[in-house]
Amino acid sequence: METKLWNGERMEDLSAAAVALRQGQLVAFPTETVYGLGGNALDVRAAEKIYGAKGRPSDNPLIVHIYKTEQLAELAAEIPDAARALMAAFWPGPLTLIFPKKDVVPDCVTGGLGTVAVRMPDHPVALKLLQASDLPIAGPSANTSGKPSPTKAEHVWHDLHGKIAGIVDGGACRVGLESTVLDLTGTAPVILRPGAVTKEAIEEWLGPVEEAPPDISSKDAPRAPGMKYTHYAPEAPLYLCQGTGPQIASGLMKEISQCTGQAGLMFSAETLAAFPQAFLSSDAVVVENLGSRTDLEKVCARVFDALRYFDQTGVSIIYTEYFSTASIGAALMNRLHKAAGGQLRKFGCV
Ligand code: TXA
Ligand code: MG
Repeated sequence: METKLWNGERMEDLSAAAVALRQGQLVAFPTETVYGLGGNALDVRAAEKIYGAKGRPSDNPLIVHIYKTEQLAELAAEIPDAARALMAAFWPGPLTLIFPKKDVVPDCVTGGLGTVAVRMPDHPVALKLLQASDLPIAGPSANTSGKPSPTKAEHVWHDLHGKIAGIVDGGACRVGLESTVLDLTGTAPVILRPGAVTKEAIEEWLGPVEEAPPDISSKDAPRAPGMKYTHYAPEAPLYLCQGTGPQIASGLMKEISQCTGQAGLMFSAETLAAFPQAFLSSDAVVVENLGSRTDLEKVCARVFDALRYFDQTGVSIIYTEYFSTASIGAALMNRLHKAAGGQLRKFGCV
């Protein structure tokens, strides 16, 4: 299949993309978090195509995207007051809410669950496309299952060209990590996946909320089925490094000198400053500077692009930083833990 590249700034391109969606085809589109792989959420065949194109296990449900709150009544059997308050506060924005589903939502969209995940993205191109199609659009992240989520149209092209009808290019995604997923269907609200709408921000509206444990053993039934699968993994093994900048720098320089092949270093500007400049510009390493660790939002926006860059360079090992878990750092470290498969390197007395 020829995959078209549409320009998100041009209304005629968005109209063509909307026609493709209405015909049951798949269109990748930008959101403020990551690119989504869109298909008509009410069409079983479109949903099945999404699982096929991504190579995604069929028990991992999809998020449905809407552009106006009126569309929610079509999808959700019940909209609790807590959800209404959060929608007013955070939509459009990076917060996905789980509702009991109506029968019109196909079981394959929800991975067989009786609930449906819905969000309204905060991106002008996404909202225009959703409006032009006038459909609820199922949209997982537009990557091959298991790979880092795409934050640029070229990432989607790399993973999915030839498999989908088109990609709407809207430039780089502002947030860079997927939305917060909040389950309101139980007795207490539970964050199933941390994101840019932080626990603290949600608690201002709801009081205490729980967090689903990050590591779920195969014995437990995860509440967000996606949590049990490998995620965000670059080709090379990734290690999270704990320690001060100088401890990490001297430990890694020793380790890398014994390695054949190049090592990827994905660190904050502060940690990189502890390495000698000559080492950073040597052939032993490929360096991705994520910016200052005091600006975690920028770090989040860069991290998936950096992981994908290492795949292109063919490094044989990647080291990254153990960032603060305060505020949006919780979402960042959730993704890095998964990308690293929990592999840690401790330097110094930590
Ligand atoms: O920011 C985002 O959320 C992006 C953009 C494209 O909107 N989408 C995204 O979708 O990250 P995806 O499919 O990659 O992740 C959806 C997550 C999965 O962990 C899935 O298991 C969970 O949401 N999920 C979806 N429906 C659910 C449901 N009914 N109950 C519990 N978890 C659900
Ligand atoms: Mg995903």
